[in-house]
Amino acid sequence: MDSQLSYVLFFAFFLVFLSSSPAPADARASPLLRSVCKQTRDSFHQNYTECVKTLWSDARIQSSASNDLKDVAISVLEIAAETATDTQELFNSYLQMETGTKAIQQCAQSYGSVASAFQGTLEGVKEEDDMVSNMASRIVDSIVVCEKALSSDGVELPQTISNRVHLVRLYKDIGCTVTSQLVSIWLRARKH
Ligand SMILES: *[C@@H]1O[C@H](CO)[C@@H](O)[C@H](O)[C@H]1NC(C)=O
Repeated sequence: MDSQLSYVLFFAFFLVFLSSSPAPADARASPLLRSVCKQTRDSFHQNYTECVKTLWSDARIQSSASNDLKDVAISVLEIAAETATDTQELFNSYLQMETGTKAIQQCAQSYGSVASAFQGTLEGVKEEDDMVSNMASRIVDSIVVCEKALSSDGVELPQTISNRVHLVRLYKDIGCTVTSQLVSIWLRARKH
């Protein structure tokens, strides 16, 4: 066979192989979710693939994803609040194993505040209150208080807790992205 032809055939088969391989999470996620994750990447330097995978792995998000941005925001904030509460509980149980660490105690308290800030934002989104765009600073402040306490006490978190902490931050960035998009939609609609 002519070597150029076999080269072309090889590429043709290669392309067929590529297109028939299982679709990545990205391809299955709804266009709305993909756009939310692109925006989250652009605004907060978040990992796009991780964003899509995380959202798409949740049944609530999957079922709200084909609807509108408000439904997605509500699901994201519900999950964010639950994740922050889980994180608080993990810190509390860690506290029982590690005696006398002030930092862990501080973090349990901080993630309690994070959970209630997400909950407050959720209520605000449901009521279409444009003050919800202030959520970010309260949440970030609480997260930073915990981080500082950990580093000043030299505490190294176990993987299960640090994974959860990482997830809370991802949900915070996604939550801020969808919430600020919603607020600008509401403000534009109220002008007319
Ligand atoms: C982004 O997330 C994906 C999936 O979780 C991971 O495989 C990849 O290494 C991450 N990329 C960076 C730059 O962290």
